[in-house]
Amino acid sequence: MSTLAIVPREIITAFREYFRSEAKPQVYRAPGRVNLIGEHTDYNLGFVFPIALEMACYVAIAPVPNETVRIYSRDSDDEVTVAVDALPSAVRAGKWSDYVIGVARELIAAGTQLAGCNVYIASDVPLGSGLSSSAALEIASACALLGPRHMDPIDIALLGQRAESQFAGMPCGIMDQYASVFGREGSAIQIDCRSLEHDYVPLPQDVDIVAVNSMVKHELGTSAYRDRVAECAAAVEAVRHTGHDVKSLRDVSLTLFERIQDSVPVVPRRRARHVVSENQRVLDFASAARDHNLREMGRLFVASHRSMQYDYEISSEEIDFLVDTAIKHPGVYGSRMTGGGFGGCTVNLVAPHAVEDLRNELTRAYQARFGKTPAFYDCKPAAGAGRVNA
Ligand code: GLA
Repeated sequence: MSTLAIVPREIITAFREYFRSEAKPQVYRAPGRVNLIGEHTDYNLGFVFPIALEMACYVAIAPVPNETVRIYSRDSDDEVTVAVDALPSAVRAGKWSDYVIGVARELIAAGTQLAGCNVYIASDVPLGSGLSSSAALEIASACALLGPRHMDPIDIALLGQRAESQFAGMPCGIMDQYASVFGREGSAIQIDCRSLEHDYVPLPQDVDIVAVNSMVKHELGTSAYRDRVAECAAAVEAVRHTGHDVKSLRDVSLTLFERIQDSVPVVPRRRARHVVSENQRVLDFASAARDHNLREMGRLFVASHRSMQYDYEISSEEIDFLVDTAIKHPGVYGSRMTGGGFGGCTVNLVAPHAVEDLRNELTRAYQARFGKTPAFYDCKPAAGAGRVNA
């Protein structure tokens, strides 16, 4: 499957070459994630069910004897240099460095003293694929800039989210940063986005999780995301008008929704129907995973996709094609879009013996229809962020 794993030792060599330095940098890793179910529920304070990936962002860092922070991104082949005391007033640049600078600003605001350093970044999380390359970059940067200093893991996740929503300009929920911090090998993370607590749910061993990259990312992503956030708020407002004291869509049960839905304007009603039913699907999916019920897990995947396709309206022609083609394959239990929407990846539950055949079939059909070659990623639940021995 795609992407070459990054070897931390090579990052040290690359760091030394790039900065022409003999320093021995520390290396930190933070993974991307694939969300199995629970889409657009995080900012509605509901449930999500991601796994952290082996694909990750690596940050090598070493102190320098002056007050300058030099940050190099191998993936963008671009360097940004900032004086430490200029960090708090830094402005958004509209590129990769916003995630790192945003995190540095948040650390300073939380009372962490930063000093001059060289920072080398390399990631194998594919950009724009819906696998959270930005959260991986934020969390790896936060761990690197913190170094040996302790910070509560949940505060690291929250700080990454603030950097993304307040500095980089994407009003995201907490899922991606949370998964990057709290990932665990072999398990999915069921997160309650209101209490910010989680349970690890071991996944059945006899199913492969395969992400398929449509290689398409529609540009309207961020503005459409913003619209969905606003439409959900409008739905909450409409429910409140019916006399129910709800603070978010998390407080709306399926039964309540069915009773009052006619009082909610049509677009917010559809958005709310997705969120309310998706929260229930996360809980059902977790039970099905615990019961080792692959058929039910697959059924919930497809129900989730249809809900995103018709009620939340965040799918795309390419993604629907990948889902519809995959679920015709006898070795596929279920398929759905994952992440923010409008392109990116689908995630598929596949019988291990069928993976190769599915891959060939999807490649052939997708090329014939769209003239593009999809990329495939084998998604094994991996550990969350931390320092790596290189
Ligand atoms: C993006 C956001 C997440 C979440 C998903 C949709 O990945 O960053 O917070 O809202 O979209 O589930």
